[in-house]
Amino acid sequence: MYTIAELTERINKEVEKIQYSTEPKNLYDPIRYILSIGGKRIRPVLMLLGYNLYKDDVTPIINNALAIETYHNFTLLHDDLMDKSDMRRGNPTVHKKWNDNTAILSGDTMLIIAYQLFNQGMKNKEALTAFIDATLGVCEGQQYDIDFETRNDVTEEEYMEMIRQKTSLLLGYALKIGAILGGADEEDAQNLYTFGEKMGLAFQLQDDYLDVYGNTQEFQKKLGGDIVVNKKTFMLINACQLASPAQKAEIDQWIQAKTFDADEKIAAITHIYNILGIDKLAQQKIEKLFAISLQSLDKVKVADEKKAELRLFANKLMGRKY
Ligand code: IPE
Ligand code: IPE
Ligand code: MG
Ligand code: MG
Ligand code: MG
Repeated sequence: MYTIAELTERINKEVEKIQYSTEPKNLYDPIRYILSIGGKRIRPVLMLLGYNLYKDDVTPIINNALAIETYHNFTLLHDDLMDKSDMRRGNPTVHKKWNDNTAILSGDTMLIIAYQLFNQGMKNKEALTAFIDATLGVCEGQQYDIDFETRNDVTEEEYMEMIRQKTSLLLGYALKIGAILGGADEEDAQNLYTFGEKMGLAFQLQDDYLDVYGNTQEFQKKLGGDIVVNKKTFMLINACQLASPAQKAEIDQWIQAKTFDADEKIAAITHIYNILGIDKLAQQKIEKLFAISLQSLDKVKVADEKKAELRLFANKLMGRKY
């Protein structure tokens, strides 16, 4: 079995080797840029780890792994535009460094390149269908995320379903595609999917937590962005539930405010979270979901030593600061 570090390094090297056309520069430079400024590479690594449970050499599916990373980075270009985010991986976002149109078109191009990469030498229809389902599901989740910004009756259940689509699907399918290509039986492929899906829920909850409680230097994104644009996160939904009438009125006033000082809004909402213990509540939920995810990994009919790296992966992700 390869280690997480070895596979991450392999992906980073392979990402650098992807050949793009040279012209137009303003189409391809942003693609090279976003792929070169960092990123944890968790989706391609999960795909390779899933495959590696069944096959020793991961080389045959490198293009599939590059496809999922390229797709993920496409979603980031559009997500940052939609979320009005200025910082990504400690650097200016593409729409800030270039402009909105560049983020749209370079993003579109990455989506196409992702399919081009996935399709290279691809004979497995089941894997391709899985890739289509995953990539379409993310767009559906992203639409709910945006719809929820202007709704004030979003339930925790709706939030969980939204993050399942925008984030978890891709982690689950990364593992499942790796497993399918490695020749896993259906039961194993499904259990690996569920492992990734539950881990993905915890992962997005943690992303939302870090957006409030992280450290900009480590997180490499601007903090408080979700609060500013009224994202209906697990934290905001639970704060509204647990708030006293006075606290609820204060939250509502910030949500409805058209003009405000962003830092002031972030501080006020965070203060209410702190009083209500929302940080601890989120942490508990995250830990619970990670523990649940591992139960599905346990069911995969592969020797425990082989699964150790995936177990480690989940544990490392849980302790992440970015
Ligand atoms: C960011 O994903 C978007 C979410 C789904 C939270 P990552 O946290 O995997 O971002 P990078 O690729 O490591 O920068
Ligand atoms: C993004 O969720 C999920 C995607 C499909 C890109 P977020 O909007 O929370 O991701 P970040 O915080 O910008 O990375
Ligand atoms: Mg978003
Ligand atoms: Mg975002
Ligand atoms: Mg986020």
